[in-house]
Amino acid sequence: MANLWARKSAAELLQEAALGESDAEVHPLKRSLSALNLVAIGIGGIIGAGIFVLTGHAAAANAGPAVTLSFLLGAVACAFAGLCYAEMASTVPISGSAYTYAYATLGELMAWIIGWDLVLEYAVGAVTVAIGWSGYVVSFARDFGLDLPSRLVSSPLSFDDKTHAWSSTGAIFNVPAMLIIVLVTALLVVGIRESARFNGFVVAVKLTVIALFIICTASSVTSANWVTSSNPDGAFIPPNAGPGTYGWSGVIRGAAVVFFAYIGFDAVSATAQEAKTPQRDMPIGILGSLVICTVLYVAVGFVLTGIVPFDRLNVPDPIAVGVDAAGVGWLSPLIKLGILFGLTSVILVSLLPQPRIFRAMAHDGLLPPIAARIHPRFRTPYVSTIGCGIVVAVLAGLLPIGLVGELVSIGTLFAFAVVSIGTLVLRLIEPELIRPFRSPAIWLVAPAGAAISIFLMVSLPLDTWIRLAVWLAVGLAIYFAYGAKHSMKANRRSQM
Ligand code: ALA
Repeated sequence: MANLWARKSAAELLQEAALGESDAEVHPLKRSLSALNLVAIGIGGIIGAGIFVLTGHAAAANAGPAVTLSFLLGAVACAFAGLCYAEMASTVPISGSAYTYAYATLGELMAWIIGWDLVLEYAVGAVTVAIGWSGYVVSFARDFGLDLPSRLVSSPLSFDDKTHAWSSTGAIFNVPAMLIIVLVTALLVVGIRESARFNGFVVAVKLTVIALFIICTASSVTSANWVTSSNPDGAFIPPNAGPGTYGWSGVIRGAAVVFFAYIGFDAVSATAQEAKTPQRDMPIGILGSLVICTVLYVAVGFVLTGIVPFDRLNVPDPIAVGVDAAGVGWLSPLIKLGILFGLTSVILVSLLPQPRIFRAMAHDGLLPPIAARIHPRFRTPYVSTIGCGIVVAVLAGLLPIGLVGELVSIGTLFAFAVVSIGTLVLRLIEPELIRPFRSPAIWLVAPAGAAISIFLMVSLPLDTWIRLAVWLAVGLAIYFAYGAKHSMKANRRSQM
């Protein structure tokens, strides 16, 4: 009989990892990632649709020029959770990420729930960014006078948030969104080192695009665009116009919106078994990428709202609008190309952890063993990588972007809350464990990480909560139908 609360001790996890390393039959994952690779994986996963698309919406609809404050607030939320992830990733450097940490702290059932929830962050995250990628392809092609047939570049379905009704758009499939998933999946099967190398190149392109944007447009910043009026919240924040619209409540809602822009740093922790020195390099990868992205986001927020009046930024391509407003329109196609590369690396880094988490779950008997199979030559978890790629490609071809974006945020925030609580629990139940990286002030950091994550979850709409509940209910049904019966932990106990 399954013991839903059975916990794996950290010693047990480390022993499993060591066994896996020495067992030639198992085809261990390859340890080839340096600290720099890990920072690049973090940046590769972080900078994407959030900064290139959502910044404009958050400025126009929620925070005004104070979108930079929203970015800082989002960074604080991620920093608390990031410190917890860094401690866990250095202490239990196993590739299951939040799934493994939950197993070590809150028991099997919670581990399953988090593993299942992470599908929302990674697989559905890849779906979201692939749809955004397709939008930029269309816009880039149009810059060169090429009109792609709309029936082949958009979702065949649309969902009305108000009436909750589905309707057909007349399109067939979003072909570019599917194509990019197929390409990235192929790269991931071939090898982690190849994937990391490609990611390194793309991260360089992405950072260059942001630097070019800031350098070429900074001289057009007019401080009049920042100072909106004299009001009690300060001139930088437009006067409140209802809940979540300007004022401090707008800054907070803006933080929930731009939170999406920070998702991805935790993907670093899923590659723990492929890092050369995980104990030292995991915290560097997680916290380093987070700090770099925060600085860039705040800088882009400042410049963008300094060039364009914030109420003109509610567009799908705010960076291109900024470039035009600054009179350097020639930069636009170059920037779009860079953004296309940038979004590609986000897809890559979203699809990288998913099969590794499935592998860890299959290892524990919660998923069929085939999901853990490693390719004998490429040494990557190829079965789950390909399976995941197929499902993600189909969803990217069918679904509208509005439906999936907030689901990714709520799923990620839930995982952040659980990891924050789990880090504190592990300190309490296994205080002697060697922790190469210890988060400072854990009694403040962990509760704050959980509280801010829950606070941001609460600011998301009811529809998103319902979708999360349905997804978790499906997960529980699968757990009781399969995982609870096949769990290694339960079987080992019953043999004792
Ligand atoms: N942080 C990632 C993005 O902004 C998910 O695209």
